[in-house]
Amino acid sequence: MNTNIIETLNQYEATGMRSQPDIIWTKANDCIITDDNDKEYIDFSSGVMITNSGHNNQKIKDAIMKQLDSGIFTTYMFPNSAKADLLKSLSKVIPQSHKVALYSTGTEVTEAALKITQLWGKKNKPNSKNLIISYVNSFHGRTLGAQLAGGVPSLADWIPKELSHKFIHHVPFPDGIYSNVSEFNSFTHTLDTNNIEYNDISAVIIECYQGGVGSFVPSAYMNDLVQWCKNNNIILIVDEIQSGCGRTGKFWAYEHYGIQPDIILAGKGISSSLPLSALIAREDIINLCDIGTLNTTHSGNAVCCAAANANLEFIESNRLVENAFNMGQILSTELNKISQKFTDKIRAFYSKGLIACIHVGNQETKKSNNILAKKIVNECLKNGLMLYYPGGPDGATIKIAPPLTINKELLINGCDIIMKVLEQV
Ligand SMILES: Cc1ncc(COP(=O)(O)O)c(C=O)c1O
Repeated sequence: MNTNIIETLNQYEATGMRSQPDIIWTKANDCIITDDNDKEYIDFSSGVMITNSGHNNQKIKDAIMKQLDSGIFTTYMFPNSAKADLLKSLSKVIPQSHKVALYSTGTEVTEAALKITQLWGKKNKPNSKNLIISYVNSFHGRTLGAQLAGGVPSLADWIPKELSHKFIHHVPFPDGIYSNVSEFNSFTHTLDTNNIEYNDISAVIIECYQGGVGSFVPSAYMNDLVQWCKNNNIILIVDEIQSGCGRTGKFWAYEHYGIQPDIILAGKGISSSLPLSALIAREDIINLCDIGTLNTTHSGNAVCCAAANANLEFIESNRLVENAFNMGQILSTELNKISQKFTDKIRAFYSKGLIACIHVGNQETKKSNNILAKKIVNECLKNGLMLYYPGGPDGATIKIAPPLTINKELLINGCDIIMKVLEQV
């Protein structure tokens, strides 16, 4: 390992920017990452669900190079073809009634969503407190509004309490493992117990696939939530920053429920590469912002737009959503084998398409084991499988998310490494 790089980072970088093992990524190609010792890893991380079309994707690389060759690296708000092309491609996969604002990071689109729902509430529910309902254990980014919306109290304990209780409230997420709720009446029950009037709510923000815990909202719950939002004139925001762009075996995870959210938040896998995110919202909501009041300096950077447009074309022409679905069936079968074999090490697993997680712990006692989880990740890394450190409420959840380009052989090889490591730890 090149200790110089690690030492330099230790010396100059803020602690809060580091959380992963000291493995220096030097090269990456499709589903393989190489470190500075030329050791290769099968990638089960996609760099935190970014590289849906694989690392170093040639089509994306060509599009980036072409944009760079034009000399237009940045345009601020001036019109450019890279942005127009991306918006046209995106229009094929979003509801016709929606318009788009492009940004760089996920947390920015969460902030923008909070802003437009407040504007909508002020106009459409003038006597309402315009509260937002979010979920326990949810994650929507690290800036102020996004962290208020997130449901992990330890991540938001830097925020003054008076602010945190002002306009965002959290209800239990039906995750099937950490919470004891599964039906929608838990949602209204929590509101009623906390004396929250339905008319005081302007929006609900939810991850259909809650990344922190790694599980999906049950269908009946989701359908009841959608109906309840309609009945009470409340906006439904679906955060697809992690689950979107083919990851779950549908283009958007919400498609598993046959619903149409009012607002969709997208990021990460939308470009498979450079920083690009999108706020996708009903026109009557998003256009409540006056000209020039929704943008940031780097929103929808032209080079990032070119990358994202090539990525969407690649996902479509290579049928990656279908591949995610098919490979997901194999991944689920392999994880089922692993969970049946190691009942004292794997508490539960969840998977849909190419997003999965294993909760390390004991199936009988239902206890999590975060020390073992970290050990498993470290051993997998030694054996050539790229994973990132466990997370989740107990720090015992290992996420599995290979690029959507992965084939059966590599997928099974990766699962075999997990199996082998579990036999040894
Ligand atoms: C569901 C979800 N929402 C929002 C975010 C924030 O995105 P970013 O890190 O790009 O700000 C993330 C990032 O992990 C996420 O997983």
